[in-house]
Amino acid sequence: MNQMKIGSFIAARRKAHNFTQSQLAEKLGVTDKAVSKWETGKSMPDLSLFTSLCDLLEITLNELLLGDFILEENLKEKSNQVLLEVITSWLGKDRWDLRTEYDNKDLVLRLQNVKKVYNSENSLTKAVNDISLEIHKGSFLGIMGASGSGKSTLLNMIATIDKATSGTIEISGQNIAEISEKDLAAFRREHLGFIFQEYNLLDTLTIYENIALALTIKKFPKESVKRKILAIADKLEIADVLDKFPYEVSGGQRQRCACARAIAVNPSLILADEPTGALDSHSAKQLLEILLMFRSEFFATILMVTHDAFSASYCDKILFMQDGEIKEVLERGQENRHTFFANILDVMARLTERGGYVY
Ligand SMILES: Nc1ncnc2c1ncn2[C@@H]1O[C@H](COP(=O)(O)OP(=O)(O)OP(=O)(O)O)[C@@H](O)[C@H]1O
Ligand SMILES: [Mg+2]
Repeated sequence: MNQMKIGSFIAARRKAHNFTQSQLAEKLGVTDKAVSKWETGKSMPDLSLFTSLCDLLEITLNELLLGDFILEENLKEKSNQVLLEVITSWLGKDRWDLRTEYDNKDLVLRLQNVKKVYNSENSLTKAVNDISLEIHKGSFLGIMGASGSGKSTLLNMIATIDKATSGTIEISGQNIAEISEKDLAAFRREHLGFIFQEYNLLDTLTIYENIALALTIKKFPKESVKRKILAIADKLEIADVLDKFPYEVSGGQRQRCACARAIAVNPSLILADEPTGALDSHSAKQLLEILLMFRSEFFATILMVTHDAFSASYCDKILFMQDGEIKEVLERGQENRHTFFANILDVMARLTERGGYVY
């Protein structure tokens, strides 16, 4: 990060908005001197101010960290948008007051009769229709289903990004519908880790800084950040590329960095949406092995949406969705992965025949 460049950019954007240094300071609740120090490159704004600063100056987080506007053609719009959502949620200031008494301590996620109906002008779409499920700590659950079967809708409701029309969703014993809008960001930061197909790394930060950002936002003790990152990087075989930028490393390495970032903050539940979708088969396999390692070493709980039977064969249980409902449930039990893989293909073929759907 180039602090001088960032400082000049903040100054230029402030002037473009006709704010004096004191006006900007007042809006952010900091001293005039702090703003002056940022603008001369002597210090950086505190992470907790990033979101409000970007809003006030009408720039994105990536632009703030780069110290320049990002040209339209260079903007990976989608990944930035999702990333910002996640970062913004981490940046939420209020800490969630954890409920202490759970019915079942091991239960990480419980859905009861969850429905999501989209109501457009002349049609009703039951995107998710009466789904109930439970995920216990340490399990690796897969969700499969044809395009349009409701997988993303379901995942978004669990991610607290979208609201259910009816039914209840509990994460670590807390009914998420009871959490106020203002506390949701903190809840997400506290309980959820995300791994998406598009990696969602900040291009202007090195791999090391990308992981560190997640830890800093989560208020991880400063003195242990480096040790923690080196330990995880070693396990994920990205220790050699920590000083590189995301565009300088392979897709597999980028995705492993995203994994490191997700696990580093020790979330109650990791939500993965097509995490192997953009990877070659070797990198995909490596990623799935990492998810298994997260489970065995960190006792992580994972919910993964996938189209791909090979990825699904790493799960211990698969829910097959069709028309917003769970049509089949397949458990791996004592079977080896090869047999489980064959069983998954069988169910997919059966559902495809029955419904004429294509995965
Ligand atoms: N915002 C929305 N408004 C109206 N209908 C929607 C909306 N989002 C999704 N749907 C509809 O809900 C159904 C489920 O969509 P969803 O995106 O959950 O499917 P999916 O299983 O994730 O599909 P894919 O594999 O293609 O990602 C589809 O019929 C879709 O058209
Ligand atoms: Mg989807």
